[in-house]
Amino acid sequence: MKKLFYLFLSILIFVSCSDSGGEDPIDPPIEPPVENDRPKNMEEYNATSDGLRDYYFEDGYFDIGVAISPQSLDKPDEVALIKRHMNSLTAENAMKWSSIEPTEGNFNWSDADKIVDFAVANDLKVRGHTLCWHQQVPDWIFEDNGVEASKELVLERLKSHIAAVVGRYKGKIYAWDVVNEAIDDGGGYRNSKWYSICGEDYIFEAFNAAREADPDAKLFYNDYNATEPQKRYSIEKLLEDLISRQLVDGMGLQGHWNLDGPYLSRIRDAFDGYAALGVELQITELDINTGSATEYTSTIESKQKSAYGRYFQEFRDYKDEITSVTFWGLTDDHSWLNQPGKPNFPLLFDKNYDPKGPYFDVIDF
Ligand code: G3I
Repeated sequence: MKKLFYLFLSILIFVSCSDSGGEDPIDPPIEPPVENDRPKNMEEYNATSDGLRDYYFEDGYFDIGVAISPQSLDKPDEVALIKRHMNSLTAENAMKWSSIEPTEGNFNWSDADKIVDFAVANDLKVRGHTLCWHQQVPDWIFEDNGVEASKELVLERLKSHIAAVVGRYKGKIYAWDVVNEAIDDGGGYRNSKWYSICGEDYIFEAFNAAREADPDAKLFYNDYNATEPQKRYSIEKLLEDLISRQLVDGMGLQGHWNLDGPYLSRIRDAFDGYAALGVELQITELDINTGSATEYTSTIESKQKSAYGRYFQEFRDYKDEITSVTFWGLTDDHSWLNQPGKPNFPLLFDKNYDPKGPYFDVIDF
């Protein structure tokens, strides 16, 4: 009887030990693929009118946006693609300072108006881009009768530009990239004309002017490489300062990314770091650069499928923090990365307005 008891005990110990093997942290259980009825190929894509906005915006994840030029709105194929997939628009260039106020006090509204009017007529949101940047900014701002303008004059011009632009679209543009790329890649402030003349004050004056012009608009700081630690720490310091003055609502991570980077751990750290400050997050200029390859080979396609797939998985994981994801262009041939003699294939739609392989990974969840 005693022997039988010990035999039973050893069987019990053996069984309980092998059970704990299933909890090995190195080998997490493999999740079965999620079944969904979303299109998996062109035939299924053509059989539905649903698009990215249905799978993401309507289903409670985040807005899906695209940066466009006003010329896109004259092309029925582009308009159809925008309406099917997007619920948010950004002007790729039409709202930048050199487009809108090329000479002092002379505003050229037509291109920006065209985008905003289309958005209003079609119930799309608009992100405003961008009020203060070191590029596409006219020289006159920094000059005064042939010499460098004083800090006071430059700030005056900045404030009146922002009052005019934000004021014109008050109630129609729900979020503004107020200051763009003010932090250097290695950390610290970028030594732009803005900074060399005004120091960091121009940043606070810009946000302040935007807040005054439309107190209901969400104000964003926007930058690239915002997942890189050195730069991120400086951005976080700036955000903390802006938050303490109640001048900022969100952090825009541009998202000009590559086939193999940034690593997901960097992205997560950045999302966690910015969100912990209490601002909302938006991916404002997403594209995935395919590098120097001159053709969209199956190898590049499969790398891009996996990159888009994992980045969007990450975005979905942060759906409580991320409120919008905007692509920086509609089709590959319209992308800023696609240059004569140097093709690039960074977006989800090709030049025939058809979805590319990665599109199906983005919606497969
Ligand atoms: O409109 C003129 C046209 O009249 C002229 O004939 C032509 C000749 O080069 O230039 C046209 O302007 C170009 C403009 O895009 C519109 O196509 C500018 O040269 C060109 O520099 C400008 O590039 C834009 C770039 O910002 C400016 O630095 C890109 O389209 C735009 O995608 C890019 O967007 C930026 C974001 O705003 C901020 N984050 C980085 C992102 C990529 O650089």
